[in-house]
Amino acid sequence: MNEPGSGYGDDMSGTTFEIHHGPGPIIATSIHAGSDLPLGVRELMEIDSHERLREEDPIHFNELKTSGRYWSVTTAADIKAVEGDWKTYSSASGITLGIPVAKQVANGGGGAQTAAFIAMDPPEQRQQRRTVTPAVQPNHLATVEPLIRERTIDVLDSLPEGETFDWVENVSIELTTRMLATLFDFPFEDRRKLARWSDIVFAIPEPGGVIESHEQRFDELRECVEYFSKLWEQRRENPGHDLVSMLVHGEATKDMSAMEHLGNLLLLIVGGNDTTRNTMSGSVYGLNTFPEQYDKLVANPDLIRNMVQEIIRWQTPLAYMRRTATCDTDLGGKAILEGDQLLMWYLSANRDPDVFENPDSIDIERANADQHLSFGYGVHRCMGLRLAEMQLKILWEEILERFERIEVQAEPTRTLSSFVHGYTYLPVTVTRK
Ligand code: HEM
Repeated sequence: MNEPGSGYGDDMSGTTFEIHHGPGPIIATSIHAGSDLPLGVRELMEIDSHERLREEDPIHFNELKTSGRYWSVTTAADIKAVEGDWKTYSSASGITLGIPVAKQVANGGGGAQTAAFIAMDPPEQRQQRRTVTPAVQPNHLATVEPLIRERTIDVLDSLPEGETFDWVENVSIELTTRMLATLFDFPFEDRRKLARWSDIVFAIPEPGGVIESHEQRFDELRECVEYFSKLWEQRRENPGHDLVSMLVHGEATKDMSAMEHLGNLLLLIVGGNDTTRNTMSGSVYGLNTFPEQYDKLVANPDLIRNMVQEIIRWQTPLAYMRRTATCDTDLGGKAILEGDQLLMWYLSANRDPDVFENPDSIDIERANADQHLSFGYGVHRCMGLRLAEMQLKILWEEILERFERIEVQAEPTRTLSSFVHGYTYLPVTVTRK
């Protein structure tokens, strides 16, 4: 067995599900801005282009020097076909567009040995997932709900009135990190470290950016490894009901390698952080973009539950997930070759007019809002979705309780990523009741 702490940090390449983007900038840009990218890449980043692709070439081929052959799958039906067949379309070679599989194997990066279970196939994925699922099951959620509400109220009550502040920083990040600290039983005073580690996993190095170099990411993740190694040791002796204890003692996870352990921790941090955070910001931005929907919600708070689904659809916090073909096959008449990557564009499927009427608009009473694919579909369907829904529901119950209105003051700034569809800054003001 690998002693926790011993194997960490020796070689961090490929530890997280796909930080081994290697030399290429992959398809790095904001979803809404990509004018300097090669044709084909740029197209895939823009919602208008998704519309064209769905109509003209819904399973669209492309090849990049840095990333190899890949198909963009843009309709809800085709994405379900891919996600529903994990034997043909594997997760084990990575979940974001990466360097070609052959190179990845040659580099020793990626692959099941270093991946989190989101980047594995059954039966390993199922076994590891089962270990941590109790932390996000309804009975456990019912026990943490009062604490989540208390922490939400605390954050909302501390917001300044009559001045513009950043919703992302003050509310979305603060609440999701408090939530993570609760799930991991992570030292509360250090909770911002969790947000930082989550941010750097997928960040693209650039001057003045979240990180400036791959080396910086490496160094910071080393700190993450060291921190969790200590927690891992503590929880081995004194287990609790937190996620670290579950991984330390779970049958399927207790003997896993240090790299897998780190991969799974980062999966839980990133999975539960960015996505929920960006939905929290997206809900405020979206309801301001469609103010008549905001009015409807204020008039009838019973709509919160459906509004949450509709915002998760509209926002689509993760733009896509990747699969890799394990054999030559046919998808919608296209000849897919073994080793080809398939990008399942949830962002596009959630705007598919065959499924959603007026898909670009928010309609908090939309009857089929919960048919969105933001949580994926099939064996990997988001493990934390009930938790995310609960956090958002509590947030809006408490918002409606105490604020007349949250008003967006300027357009938000967006996350520089083709994978994470989110916000870095959203200036707002609040008026208390
Ligand atoms: C609005 C919030 C969220 C969104 C949009 C979201 C989205 C996703 C997506 C798209 C997947 C991959 C599905 C697939 O490949 O079919 C996923 C998997 C996962 N999510 Fe979430 N997620 C959210 C919140 C959370 C939270 C709060 C957690 C907390 C623990 C979490 C933990 C996970 C895990 C562990 C997986 C891997 C599941 C597996 O591979 O079996 N997610 N999520």
